Amino acid sequence: MGFHHIQSLLFLFLLGASSLTLAQNLYCHKGISMSIKEDNSSAFNWTSEKVETCDNNALCQESVLMIKSGAKAAVFVTKSCVSEGIPSITFAQHSPPPGIVAVSYSNYCEDSLCNNKSDLPDFLWDSNLPSVSKASTTLRCPTCVALGNCLSAPSLLCPNGTTRCYQGRLEIIGGDFDSTLEVKGCTSVIGCRLMSGILTVGPMWVKEMCPYQSLIQPRKIKNGATWLLISIRKLELLLLLLLQLLVHCS
Ligand SMILES: *[C@@H]1O[C@H](CO)[C@@H](O)[C@H](O)[C@H]1NC(C)=O
Ligand SMILES: *[C@@H]1O[C@H](CO)[C@@H](O)[C@H](O)[C@H]1NC(C)=O
Ligand SMILES: *[C@@H]1O[C@H](CO)[C@@H](O)[C@H](O)[C@H]1NC(C)=O
Ligand SMILES: *[C@@H]1O[C@H](CO)[C@@H](O)[C@H](O)[C@H]1NC(C)=O
Repeated sequence: MGFHHIQSLLFLFLLGASSLTLAQNLYCHKGISMSIKEDNSSAFNWTSEKVETCDNNALCQESVLMIKSGAKAAVFVTKSCVSEGIPSITFAQHSPPPGIVAVSYSNYCEDSLCNNKSDLPDFLWDSNLPSVSKASTTLRCPTCVALGNCLSAPSLLCPNGTTRCYQGRLEIIGGDFDSTLEVKGCTSVIGCRLMSGILTVGPMWVKEMCPYQSLIQPRKIKNGATWLLISIRKLELLLLLLLQLLVHCS
């Protein structure tokens, strides 16, 4: 009798709790922006005054993708409700310096208006710094970042540590984006792998295409060992970032 009583109380409690959460609306900041920034203007106001009401079981998100080549950086930012995901913070350094840098940050959280960051995370700008220093004396690459097409791509001296020229297009889809970015510059990344295979950044999905490269270097992947080394280095960088994050959080 007593057991049954407790059980039905528990049932009622659970029922009460779930109808309570159903009744509570989740609100999230909403906004997107894409822009090309000069290296030295690291100030970026990510505040969004707009607020949207989410569907049931949603989360709030705020995400940034930054691609930098030469003195310019393309910055895609978004805040909104998302219907899928778990509360988490993700940093990824898709392409590390020197040369073209591709980095992203994404925060999924579950309280109303928790996607309220006003500045871009410092690490996005920090990872910029080495790419402008120490020019090598030999390699030059056409260098540009532009929404749509590059109107010009001056041939610039590459930073020390880069080994080749990259030319590609990134299509950024989802999270209210449907945009193309043209990227040219110096890199040590081999092939069409600026995103290093991590193709989602929050609600954004990135498709990478390198038409020029396949024309200029038809299937010239000669050194498997280099591939492996570079992938391992990337993994290490990712792990390092994750570890830093864990230490930071605890
Ligand atoms: C940023 O760079 C631009 C051109 O490269 C220059 O005109 C401007 O003065 C610089 N701003 C700062 C704060 O250094
Ligand atoms: C960012 O913009 C919001 C308005 O959109 C403003 O209230 C806030 O003061 C700005 N923050 C900075 C650091 O400029
Ligand atoms: C931003 O969101 C966090 C997490 O929900 C919250 O603790 C904080 O008070 C919010 N800050 C502002 C200014 O709303
Ligand atoms: C480039 O890097 C190599 C190896 O780290 C170093 O020996 C060389 O001095 C560097 N060159 C410049 C111009 O910094």
